[in-house]
Amino acid sequence: MSNIGSYADRVKGFSWAISEQELGYQPGGIINIGWHLSDRLCQKGLAAKKALLWEDHQGTEKTFTFDDVRVLSNTFAVFFQKLGIEPGERICLFMDRVPELYIGFAGILKMGAIAQPLFSAFREESLDTRLENAATTAVLTQKKHLPVVRKIRPQLPHLKYVIVVDAGDAPLREGEIAFDMDSATRVERFEVFPTKAETPSVLHYTSGTTGQPKGAQHVHYSLISQYLTSKWVLDLQPDDVYWCNADPGWVTGTSYGIIGPWANGTTQAVLDSGFNTDRWYAFLQKHRITVWYSAPTAIRLLMREGTDAVRKYDLSSLRHLCSVGEPLNAEAVIWSQEAFGRPFHDTYWQTETGCIVITNVPGMQVKPGSMGKPFPGITATVLDLRTHEPITEPGKVGLIALRPDWPSLIRGYRNNPDGFAKKFVNGWYICGDRSSIDADGYYWFVGRDDDVINTGGHLVGPFEIESALLEHPAVAESAAVAKPDPVNMEVVKAFVALKPGFESSDDLELEIMNFIRKKLSPLAMPQEIEFVKSLPKTRSGKIMRRVLRAQEFGELIGDISTLEND
Ligand code: WT7
Repeated sequence: MSNIGSYADRVKGFSWAISEQELGYQPGGIINIGWHLSDRLCQKGLAAKKALLWEDHQGTEKTFTFDDVRVLSNTFAVFFQKLGIEPGERICLFMDRVPELYIGFAGILKMGAIAQPLFSAFREESLDTRLENAATTAVLTQKKHLPVVRKIRPQLPHLKYVIVVDAGDAPLREGEIAFDMDSATRVERFEVFPTKAETPSVLHYTSGTTGQPKGAQHVHYSLISQYLTSKWVLDLQPDDVYWCNADPGWVTGTSYGIIGPWANGTTQAVLDSGFNTDRWYAFLQKHRITVWYSAPTAIRLLMREGTDAVRKYDLSSLRHLCSVGEPLNAEAVIWSQEAFGRPFHDTYWQTETGCIVITNVPGMQVKPGSMGKPFPGITATVLDLRTHEPITEPGKVGLIALRPDWPSLIRGYRNNPDGFAKKFVNGWYICGDRSSIDADGYYWFVGRDDDVINTGGHLVGPFEIESALLEHPAVAESAAVAKPDPVNMEVVKAFVALKPGFESSDDLELEIMNFIRKKLSPLAMPQEIEFVKSLPKTRSGKIMRRVLRAQEFGELIGDISTLEND
């Protein structure tokens, strides 16, 4: 029997108070995510239960119980306090998926600071923009990432501490501090900072179409949504071994790679290594994973290797599969049925929503290619593209919109109230995606409504790429758009107009690529540069990326009445 039971009954009788009661939260009282991921579980008798089964690419393994998570997160919290870091200050986690990332995250929240997780693959510019925007006080990192942090440090007056979790004997510079979780004096008792529902918790950066990446500010109350969606959608049960293969630099890796599952007392497995079919199957087999949360890009890569690759392993432990990040193709659902004997369940949400909002829950008939239905407690619709009124006609495409009344919706973009205000129309929160709803209430994803590129589930804004390109002396103007790709769904393609005196050539393309590689994260790197005489623009001079994008996708260009006359 699944945790959710009947979807229809849950929708009818729904109240978020169900989750509040299960978590023992009293409205108006204290709610601290860090405490809920550790102390509370120990109080409930799960102290000796395994919380984390960790493995790296060399096969090194470490195991932590919920009591270890409790004590070690206390240890982190006290260390931060002793440095003088105050509640509300930002502590950035800039690390690979090492145990210190997961446990440090809980420690930050316990002492009331804000956790700011960023991908360790970020290069100087991406890191700098986000640390500057957040006025981050401390960065928790590994030795191998120190060179990147050191380069930008002089530009960051707010950054007081760089904490290295694996310093060993490595020489550290002024303001760099070693913290070795394993040898630090274990702190058995710690008074958790009394955060309330609206106290800021996690700060995630998401790509915007224009301007800087946006800092999506979550609060401790998000736990109410993350706990219940983990229980009902991921269907986490006491004996499960769960694997979410997302990095916590991405919201999936925190909401469902730390918070939701641990709040449910679930044993999580973490593989600190990149994608590799055999390694992944071996990992599923070895840890007897039962519930797996993955993404379409990964599934497409696995599909390439076929079902023969699957048959080499005993994956009979798997009982529930979910996917997020991009549209889950119908073929992928059908293939997974064949390969694993069960379908992937699509889940749709965003950094801003904090939790799954539209999904196929266990027991619901899966229509391959559809995202499913709204999670109980989420009021969703699609709005007419022009009038912004809810569409009642089945099959008609509109903007996905949600009533902004569930616990984990972000409370704003940091330093950008206008950007956040723009997300609301007529009392609805607008996701920025298009979909239709069929006669049975299933949602069918159509595409994004803006210029943001979705590469392998990661949103990449054109702005950062174009800015990096513009710094090259030969580049006059540029536009970064999505181009279809069989594995990553979309990859970045850059159109570049050169300054007078420069000639396009393969050598110049290579030179520009090498130039921006130093500035951009691998995710944002264009796969291709096309040199053009000029870029399509509106009369007001705005680059019309959708014209270039349509060209790449072989689509009709649509309304170009505002296109500038040449
Ligand atoms: C955007 C949000 C979801 C948490 C991690 C990504 C796209 C996400 C699906 C899905 C089609 C999807 C949307 C959305 N997206 N899930 N199941 N089907 N598209 O969070 O980086 O904020 O990206 O990812 O375009 O708006 P994010």
